[in-house]
Amino acid sequence: MSSTIYYFSATGNSLEIAIQISKELDDCKIKSMTSPIPKEPVGGSKEIIGFVFPVYYLGMPVLVKQFVEKLNILPGTYCFAVTNFARFGGNTLGMLEKILQKKGIKLAYVEEIKMPGNYIVRYQPPNRDKLQEMLKNGRSKVDNTAKSISNHGQQPVKMNILSRILTENLYRILFRNISKWDEKFVANNKCTCCGQCAEVCPVENIKIENCHPVWQHHCERCLRCIQWCPTEAIQYGKKTMGRRRYHHPNVTVENFIETKD
Ligand SMILES: Cc1cc2nc3c(=O)[nH]c(=O)nc-3n(C[C@H](O)[C@H](O)[C@H](O)COP(=O)(O)O)c2cc1C
Repeated sequence: MSSTIYYFSATGNSLEIAIQISKELDDCKIKSMTSPIPKEPVGGSKEIIGFVFPVYYLGMPVLVKQFVEKLNILPGTYCFAVTNFARFGGNTLGMLEKILQKKGIKLAYVEEIKMPGNYIVRYQPPNRDKLQEMLKNGRSKVDNTAKSISNHGQQPVKMNILSRILTENLYRILFRNISKWDEKFVANNKCTCCGQCAEVCPVENIKIENCHPVWQHHCERCLRCIQWCPTEAIQYGKKTMGRRRYHHPNVTVENFIETKD
């Protein structure tokens, strides 16, 4: 039995979860959903396929949705998904279930993990003590999840129909005007022209022109550029000034690059 976990992560929470689960599974590869979609079908009765990613606006990040929609999965594959979020996961797993159902694939096991929030345009991450506590609780829930997945456990998506309709509509509203969203990004005079923002952007939305980042208006909104800027030079309007940056303490920029194909 072999396994593949497809993940997306802006600040490392999902990557850390994927790594933790991979340790419980036989012959497990971790692949980024920012890599090209495999041309050949994946899965089958002898392979586990998993998806690990954050919740964006009560639903799936756009690049994750597009990746799963295009992925060709063989019938009979044991599929699982683990999402993570700061406060409320909305209908994210329901969205994924629907996409897989259209392919005739059953989402056998799902779990949701509460992790430190990275939506810096609204709030800053929890303080040190709270952060440690959240990471510890997250790790212990992932531990149980990984064990259940390795035993081919079954845990279907749960959500009532009213919440599903409400969160689906909210998701549509929150993702409006996506192309204009990045107009508020600026790099101030702390920018050293290192180019890390362009390197970490998962959708190549940043070009360095005249030694300054220029956003290209097809932003995923993941905020990797703000969170990973080594000099904290990037701001989103005035909202992010003075707010602490966040990334998972075990994850480095190199980790994202290593798991790319
Ligand atoms: C664009 C965006 C939208 C988000 N929307 C939600 C949300 O609807 N509900 C929630 O609880 N957390 C939300 N979050 C927080 C992330 O889901 C959470 O911090 C997650 O653990 C980040 O995972 P990562 O480090 O793998 O990127 C959002 C974050 C971003 C960047």
